[in-house]
Amino acid sequence: MNYAIEQHLDHHRLHHITIGTDAAARFVREVADLSEQRLTYMPYLRLIAADSLQQIVGVDFAVQINALVRDRATGGFTLAVEGGFETMDQRVAFGTAVSHLIGMPNFDDMTGNYYACFEVRDTDDSDSYLRQAYRLFTLHTDGTYIRERTDWILMMKMAERDAVGGESRLLHLDDWEALEHYARHPLAALPMTYQSPPSKNYPVVMEKPTFYEHHGKACVCFIDQFVYPKTISQARYLRDLSDSMEASSGVVSLPLPPDHLVVLNNHFWLHGREAFEKHPDLYRLLMRQRGYFREE
Ligand SMILES: [Fe+2]
Repeated sequence: MNYAIEQHLDHHRLHHITIGTDAAARFVREVADLSEQRLTYMPYLRLIAADSLQQIVGVDFAVQINALVRDRATGGFTLAVEGGFETMDQRVAFGTAVSHLIGMPNFDDMTGNYYACFEVRDTDDSDSYLRQAYRLFTLHTDGTYIRERTDWILMMKMAERDAVGGESRLLHLDDWEALEHYARHPLAALPMTYQSPPSKNYPVVMEKPTFYEHHGKACVCFIDQFVYPKTISQARYLRDLSDSMEASSGVVSLPLPPDHLVVLNNHFWLHGREAFEKHPDLYRLLMRQRGYFREE
């Protein structure tokens, strides 16, 4: 067996997958010529990386991770290779292989690439909460303000130093006590205006409802920073919904060790981040990819 799937120790809905040392070493050898730069410049190499992983770990691995991320009861997994990686190129190739077994990433206008790496440090001068280390990052879904579908997100811990705190905060919609109330509310299906700040390089205004149905189940689209309600009652609805999610007993803080990645279904999982503890040398680098399922 090249990989093992087990129940995640920190979340009742998630599974943790470990790829064994030998398979990991073969993958690293196989993608040795797929540098971060080549993957960026030549899109087809990203699918070649995915194919290498599939060939080495097994086609059933691809089937399993696709089933997990689509399954409403689960909708996500964490994944790591035994022994970890040595270089950034290896990490990017691995994250890229996994994402391309699931679908195709959305183009990231902020970085002009198919992925983004976010540094968190002691200081920050950005125009959103993304990199502000000492602030709790509230629960949200990704891709709220973009045209393309964002069915899944992948986050991989690329590096971490002097970092205490900063865990991912996760909430599955079915673990939220107030889901029925907010998903059936008269404002639930009202299209809300989403617009991102200048750093995202995406000067587009989108209208998306907060709740919608997929396979008869409620799904959500929400981020507090980029939504522009037009009335006091809409603002109250969004504020109360956010407060209710934040207070939910279903919120779990998930530690993500270096070289581990997490994949979540973006239709029914919300994510955020705990605040970090103050440290002058705090450094964390996270890679994010998000995109759509290929065959839907
Ligand atoms: Fe996010």
